Amino acid sequence: MEIGAAEFQELQEKIERVSGILLTPSRRDRVLDCLEERIAATFSSSLQDYLRGLDRLGGNVELEVLASMLEPSETYFHRDPLQLNVFTQDVLRAWVEDRAASGRHRVSAWSAGCSSGEEAYTLAILLMESIPDSKNWSTYVLGTDLNRGLVKSAREAIYSPRAVGELTPQLLDRYFMPEGDRFRVVPELRSLVHFDFGNLSESAPPTRMTFDFIFCRNVLLYFTEEARGRAIEHLASRLADDGFLFLGYSEPSSWVVGHGLVPVRRGGMIVYQRESN
Ligand SMILES: C[S@@+](CC[C@H](N)C(=O)[O-])C[C@H]1O[C@@H](n2cnc3c(N)ncnc32)[C@H](O)[C@@H]1O
Repeated sequence: MEIGAAEFQELQEKIERVSGILLTPSRRDRVLDCLEERIAATFSSSLQDYLRGLDRLGGNVELEVLASMLEPSETYFHRDPLQLNVFTQDVLRAWVEDRAASGRHRVSAWSAGCSSGEEAYTLAILLMESIPDSKNWSTYVLGTDLNRGLVKSAREAIYSPRAVGELTPQLLDRYFMPEGDRFRVVPELRSLVHFDFGNLSESAPPTRMTFDFIFCRNVLLYFTEEARGRAIEHLASRLADDGFLFLGYSEPSSWVVGHGLVPVRRGGMIVYQRESN
């Protein structure tokens, strides 16, 4: 299949508008693969038919599906363990002591761009494992993603051996039940984690609550600069006053500067907090 320069540009503008994702010409082959898949899935007769039919196919919803296919959604439980160690040892521990001292046994976390849920469940596991007496805390974890199919998989909570491969046998045994050759999250953990559609370039979650910990890792990499700025604003707007934001460990702090957040060093890594007035 071929896509002409004018059609590519039209698509580029639509994808950027709907998702914030930047389609560079170097990603043309990936775009063509995804288009072929969507043309078949929507029973369109050709690329032109698909582009003409976008409104008929649901406009933004179809564009969101296409956009979310363009960005890699590869993920797994306990991804980037060094960063997660910094979270539990150098951030969470002191934060829990402060919270407990003030008698507020509540903790919340948001995995923004959660893919099929592995990061959100990982956060719930870490909170359960790291907070002394965690069963007596009220714990709320939210996962949001642009891809509605991935949100559905996250809610189903069944994972391949590869997805859980980085977990210790003890954690696997405590938080999963074998189901055929796969693993299902146990109901006690499942009930702490909620999933929803969310387009980070467009809005923050439709809740007024703020989150103590926000993880947005490996999501903003493919955004346009403008969309990334909007996304950081949305993340900042939902961060609790004493909360922490984690980006992917190789994602630069220059993205965050000027959006009311400041970089702070914890355990040799950079995390972000609200700028104090
Ligand atoms: C590589 S995955 C990252 C998953 C997880 N955060 C991790 O680090 O393992 C990137 C995810 O970002 C999602 N995404 C892309 N654009 C988005 C947007 N505008 N709003 C919300 N999620 C988006 C994709 O659908 C994909 O699931």
